[in-house]
Amino acid sequence: MENIALVTGAARGIGLATTKLFLAEGRRVIMVDNDTEELAHAATDLTGAIPLPCDVSDPDAVAQLAARAKAEIGNVSAVVNNAGLADFGPIETTDFERWRQVMATNLDGVFLISQAFTSSLKATRGAIVNIASISALRASTLRVAYGTSKAGVAHLTQQQAVELGEHGIRVNCVCPGPVRTKLAMAVHTQQIIDAYHDAIPLNRYGQETEIAEAIVWLCSDKASFVTGQRLAVDGGFEATGIGLPALRS
Ligand SMILES: NC(=O)c1ccc[n+]([C@@H]2O[C@H](COP(=O)([O-])OP(=O)(O)OC[C@H]3O[C@@H](n4cnc5c(N)ncnc54)[C@H](O)[C@@H]3O)[C@@H](O)[C@H]2O)c1
Repeated sequence: MENIALVTGAARGIGLATTKLFLAEGRRVIMVDNDTEELAHAATDLTGAIPLPCDVSDPDAVAQLAARAKAEIGNVSAVVNNAGLADFGPIETTDFERWRQVMATNLDGVFLISQAFTSSLKATRGAIVNIASISALRASTLRVAYGTSKAGVAHLTQQQAVELGEHGIRVNCVCPGPVRTKLAMAVHTQQIIDAYHDAIPLNRYGQETEIAEAIVWLCSDKASFVTGQRLAVDGGFEATGIGLPALRS
């Protein structure tokens, strides 16, 4: 059976790095993004990449995407729900529109894409990897919408794993720590970057490819007995607990 992966938010950042790793493994990759221009640019020169613009938060657009993918390309054996938005703000000023916008892409999008491709994944006994965040596992200020959406993704992963396991579909979640992508740089000041370096045991940000390696492994047969898991790829940030700099030797 041909190996076809689908990656959302594939035009840049972690999604683009994941696309390139899948291609290097010999898979074809359906690249999904709502930034049509950047998607076309990113897919140029990527042999085996099939760019299909789609807003993952739009149920009709997702249904059309799934129908087109099935008819023109074939059943996918890996789905990576990576498209995401970061909008940080205090609870009192995060109005309902901002809340809904974050939920629509980060949580509704994962639900809609996974549901639309479930019949394909049943046929291939494939795998889903949902991209949450360290913000799904540890609460923080200013992340009422983002952190809650990502905690939803982490739990949705378990719901999907438990229900789809009998069809041979594995579902796991990757929780990245900070990576210098456009998304992160829009909300991380230099002060935040310095504080992260200090708080993360490996003392640095991650790279897109380091997140992509974990995603591609979870989609591979090497992870054939792994499902329902949340893997923090975060330089040890989740493990720190009371990570006070003053407690260091
Ligand atoms: N960079 C980090 O520090 C970090 C940390 C934890 C989690 N994450 C998560 O990793 C994922 C990828 O983020 P990134 O850092 O590579 O960001 P990025 O902004 O570089 O890439 C995100 C991509 O998603 C696309 N996208 C956004 N909304 C969409 C929609 N509704 N439909 C289709 N595509 C859409 C964007 O156009 C963009 O190409 C996100 O889910 C993000 O929350 C990132």
